[in-house]
Amino acid sequence: MSNQNPVFIPGPTNIPDRLRLAMQVQTQDHRAPDFVNTLAPVLEGTKKVFGSASGQIITFPASGTGGWEAAVTNTLSPGDTVLVARYGMFSHRWIDLCQRHGLDVRIIECAWGSGAPADQFAKALAADTAHQIRAVLVTHNETATGVRSDISAVRKAMDASDHPAMLFVDCVSSLASMPFAFDDWGVDIAVSGSQKGFMLATGMAILCVSPKALAAIETAKLPRTFFDFKDMMNANASGGFPYTPPLQLIYGMRESLNMLFEEGLDNVYARHTRLAEGVRKATAAWGLDLVAQSPELYSDTVSAIYVPEGFDSNALTDHAFNAYGVSFGVGLGEMNGKAFRIGHLGSLTDVMVLSGLATIEMAMADLNYPIDLGSGVSAAQEYFRSGRTTPMKTAA
Ligand SMILES: Cc1ncc(COP(=O)(O)O)c(C=O)c1O
Repeated sequence: MSNQNPVFIPGPTNIPDRLRLAMQVQTQDHRAPDFVNTLAPVLEGTKKVFGSASGQIITFPASGTGGWEAAVTNTLSPGDTVLVARYGMFSHRWIDLCQRHGLDVRIIECAWGSGAPADQFAKALAADTAHQIRAVLVTHNETATGVRSDISAVRKAMDASDHPAMLFVDCVSSLASMPFAFDDWGVDIAVSGSQKGFMLATGMAILCVSPKALAAIETAKLPRTFFDFKDMMNANASGGFPYTPPLQLIYGMRESLNMLFEEGLDNVYARHTRLAEGVRKATAAWGLDLVAQSPELYSDTVSAIYVPEGFDSNALTDHAFNAYGVSFGVGLGEMNGKAFRIGHLGSLTDVMVLSGLATIEMAMADLNYPIDLGSGVSAAQEYFRSGRTTPMKTAA
């Protein structure tokens, strides 16, 4: 029965029945003339979630990591300079990917728990009078630390020095759960995936690409075949795919968009803020600290929580899984052993989150953590009760 329990990892997320059923479709010919009717509306609807009118949606059968690779290889050449801040495991992995592609990666090292340092980007860009930096890479929501960065502040920093670099943003664990404003923030490529805010199976990298980034294709010399933007756009324009598409995921995406728009994107974001705040209230009641250094950095999709000195967060997540059949996020990289993560994104309600809080609280009590059993759940219950006058509309 334990497979009835929700997961509290920050993706892949729980798949609502409606989406599992939507993905249950028989094989169809992707070269048939009617395939365009399936694909085109999905690409159009996805733009709304990115907050873009002018962006081009490009998808690949891949995970988010494939999206990073597609962004870089379609727009840059070997030896090109990119500017990146490292403040968690996912910004680190994007850096690693760029280095393996032979890019010159200028890294701003930041404390894990902090966010994208707009002021340091501004300095680096102002000093780059020869405009060698071709792109600034930012992880919007650092899933390892539960930190959301301010992308508009990064854009302002870039504009302040009138620097022509492109802005690439990883929104793998934020899109469709927290507001994203591709056009307003002047993003050139945003990279996401199907398995988090879209509540689908893993397997589709989802990108939004600006006209400026599309123009960069013409000079970009990094090799690409599977991830070639032009091949994909040309095929999509005639209603097809350059190779076999992930048909079931395309159907899932169509239904996911229906669900998100039925709930209303603003309501989806408000629900995530509410769930996150419930988890934060519980964390405070336990007397534990978030890895995110300050409230403006708090992520609404994942909370990374330090365990007390002398405790091992891996033992906690293992115990929660073994004893109660519930998965929580382990501490990644520098946070390994020091922090656990509660994912609170996708198809979740107040009640589901309470079950997760109750579970991790039992696991902590079993392992003699200095917490009061029930304290976190009760704090979240009080928060969820407060101000509720109507039943919550959910995506589930
Ligand atoms: C912020 C962020 N970026 C990138 C990735 C990598 O995506 P994927 O595992 O889909 O390749 C993840 C995965 O969790 C992520 O959270």
